[in-house]
Amino acid sequence: MIHISASLLAADYARLGDEVIRAEKAGVDSFHFDMMDGHYVPNFAFTPNHLKSLRAYSDLPFHAHLELSNPDDVLSKFPGLQADMIIVQWNTLTDPARTFDRICSQNIKVGLGLSPNETFNESARFFRDIDMLLLLGVYPGFGGQAMQAGMLEKIASARLLADQPDRRFTIAVDGGVKPGNAASLVEAGVDYLIIGTALFQSFDMAKTIRSIRESFAKSPRR
Ligand code: DX5
Ligand code: ZN
Repeated sequence: MIHISASLLAADYARLGDEVIRAEKAGVDSFHFDMMDGHYVPNFAFTPNHLKSLRAYSDLPFHAHLELSNPDDVLSKFPGLQADMIIVQWNTLTDPARTFDRICSQNIKVGLGLSPNETFNESARFFRDIDMLLLLGVYPGFGGQAMQAGMLEKIASARLLADQPDRRFTIAVDGGVKPGNAASLVEAGVDYLIIGTALFQSFDMAKTIRSIRESFAKSPRR
């Protein structure tokens, strides 16, 4: 099944609770929170308090995407983050196995994020330990950017690795996903489409989600 995850970075910050309700009614499968520290990326976004407050608005899974410099510090100060999955960026990890263990031991799923210029060369040895491989389609920090070139090939290579017998991880693409490219991303091998701007800027979000799902309805991977 292909999941659509709503990236709240593109939501109206003055009415976040309503935006969560709007997206759930429109048919999203989970919520994606970009947590930014103004250091790893030149922007600020969600904090642990946002997840805590918004938890009351939906029972759908919450995915926290840590786009910040010191994930271990955050994970020790805010255990669990009220999230069902925590996605850490590969180039912020000093001891990947320890960080993954810390997340797992809190009964939370583990995601690993790679920026567009990062290959699988070094991180692949940890692919047995993760639940999601998140491939950023844009350089992190801001929503509304166009997807970088080469993503379809990168997703197809990740699919081959994910389908090996001792792996359990799903593949997500985050950044630059829109109705016009969703079908080719699914065809290439993604399981999760993480979408911000294309959902929250649409007048009728349910219609946008329907058109995205229809675009890959004929794919054997739908
Ligand atoms: C980028 C974030 C994405 C972003 C995607 O730093 O990780 O989650 O919100 O937004 P759109 O869909 O607008 O590219
Ligand atoms: Zn993200």
